[in-house]
Amino acid sequence: MEKSNGTCRPQSWFVIFVSFGLWFVLFYFNSEAFISSKNKVQSVMADYVYGITYPQSITSVENVTDTDESSVDNNSVDDPVEIDEPRNEDPIAKNGNEPNDLTDLVKEIGSDSGPDPSCSGKYIYVHDLPSEFNEDLIKECRTLNKWIEMCQYMVNAGLGPRIGNSQGVFSTKGWFSTNQFMLEVIFHNRMKQYKCLTTDSSIASAVFVPFYAGFEVARYLWDTDVPTRDAASLALVKWLTSKPEWKVLGGRDHFMVAGRITWDFRRLTEKDEDWGNKLMVLPEVRNMSTLTIEASPWHRNDFGVPYPTYFHPSSDSEVFQWQSRMRRQRKRFLFSFVGAPRNSTKLIRNQLIDQCLASKKCKLLDCNKGNKKSCDKPSNVMKVFQNSIFCLEPPGDSPTRRSAFDAILAGCIPVFFHPGSAYTQYTWFLPRDYKKYSVYIPEDQVRDGKVNIESVLQRYSRDQVRRMKEEVIKLIPRVIYADPRSKLETVEDAFDISIEGVLERVEKARTDLREGRNPDEPPYLETNTWKYNLFKTEEKHEWDHFFYD
Ligand SMILES: *[C@@H]1O[C@H](CO)[C@@H](O)[C@H](O)[C@H]1NC(C)=O
Ligand SMILES: *[C@@H]1O[C@H](CO)[C@@H](O)[C@H](O)[C@H]1NC(C)=O
Ligand SMILES: *[C@@H]1O[C@H](CO)[C@@H](O)[C@H](O)[C@H]1NC(C)=O
Ligand SMILES: *[C@@H]1O[C@H](CO)[C@@H](O)[C@H](O)[C@H]1NC(C)=O
Repeated sequence: MEKSNGTCRPQSWFVIFVSFGLWFVLFYFNSEAFISSKNKVQSVMADYVYGITYPQSITSVENVTDTDESSVDNNSVDDPVEIDEPRNEDPIAKNGNEPNDLTDLVKEIGSDSGPDPSCSGKYIYVHDLPSEFNEDLIKECRTLNKWIEMCQYMVNAGLGPRIGNSQGVFSTKGWFSTNQFMLEVIFHNRMKQYKCLTTDSSIASAVFVPFYAGFEVARYLWDTDVPTRDAASLALVKWLTSKPEWKVLGGRDHFMVAGRITWDFRRLTEKDEDWGNKLMVLPEVRNMSTLTIEASPWHRNDFGVPYPTYFHPSSDSEVFQWQSRMRRQRKRFLFSFVGAPRNSTKLIRNQLIDQCLASKKCKLLDCNKGNKKSCDKPSNVMKVFQNSIFCLEPPGDSPTRRSAFDAILAGCIPVFFHPGSAYTQYTWFLPRDYKKYSVYIPEDQVRDGKVNIESVLQRYSRDQVRRMKEEVIKLIPRVIYADPRSKLETVEDAFDISIEGVLERVEKARTDLREGRNPDEPPYLETNTWKYNLFKTEEKHEWDHFFYD
């Protein structure tokens, strides 16, 4: 559809957000509940609305069992990594977040070396936020999530407990039981190692705001009133705008990371029953850039970055070794699906599960209730992916899935069913030519029973598969976050690529302002952001129905 779509967007949103209120109530009592709305707007958007909640199949308060793996491996003598594990177990002291860390590090860098020419245009100034915006949230880790015990994941600079290798699925180093919501801490810790930090904001190209936005909002997503949910966002903005750094460009050079999907931060009304806080709709934050694991297709102030995976190498060679191992890896299954069914007619998970069960060439790791723990074990999931040529990555609670990155990491060619699952999201990281590294099967064809997954995948020749798999393996460094306590030499990871993306965007805003243009007025309509990001055009596209009414 055309540009006129933009004008009806806010109204649709209103409907969506209102509908969410109802849905949420259902979810709260029944994690598999869904909206069975006949309203077109709602149904088009429903996938996104699902996203407002929780990772699949979290059904009750429980301590995630990832760490089972390390205890199991406790017994295995072949993994020396496990031996020094207890050193890293104190969440507060050992996460590398001590308030003075950064200041010390920056002083060190700033004092002995003058401006480094290789840092020209790359300097980043990090705001020294009051601890209530970051450190305190780690200390209060028990309150961060109603369903998941988050404290266990705070260790190792936010990577989580190390996982052993009793099943031989991983390499001996660099593997952690990383929770998908930990990006804020991992990114902040990576920033502490960034080579062009400066304490002089006047030479900085960008200003990093180490606010743990997702941790903060996750405490209040359920059963709270609007003022409670918005308090920290408003306090943050008040703090930021009181600083001289804000005045320079009105925040256009500021950026932050939100380790939860964008819909947790985009409440449009002041009604308690609407979802999330309003962080990302505040005028100040609209001037900033926010990196998030799932960005909005219709807004230009947030950018999709990879979910954290389980692999956090501390040297280039760990990356190369893993890549060559995945090149050699023999595959037993043509395709696989790891996930839980959904009780939604809108979603295609149940059809995929049925097709998988009906095919001898498919491996299913069913994450439905009784089996959930099995899917929480990184080795179970990674083993299936490593053994599969293709990995099915359908939308679930939202269009994106951490699983897509786990699949890439395992050298498994992802199969996407919705363009918002990756193609329109992670344009900084993935090739625009998505056919090079993935298979796209429109979800409506699956829903209508028009497509047999096995025969579609079977049609790829040996040679095509080999080339696509190689593309996937080449992507591995770009979608992982290195261990923040060490530095990779030549490999650029997702952090490095994110920083490049931010610097480029800030530079563009700076040029616009200098030349008297409004940075908010790129040559496209904001609601077409997804399309422009990917195709650099706003022309009608076959995917429009995924994004517009
Ligand atoms: C899904 O729907 C079926 C049939 O309507 C019902 O038996 C089942 O309990 C539902 N599952 C969940 C998790 O809500
Ligand atoms: C989770 O772990 C905490 C301590 O780490 C414990 O107090 C709590 O009872 C555990 N919850 C469950 C459901 O096992
Ligand atoms: C793992 O090792 C620790 C310390 O050596 C021990 O307390 C614990 O019981 C072991 N876990 C298992 C499952 O053997
Ligand atoms: C947003 O940036 C513009 C400059 O592009 C500035 O004039 C405006 O004051 C900023 N908005 C806020 C709320 O600071």
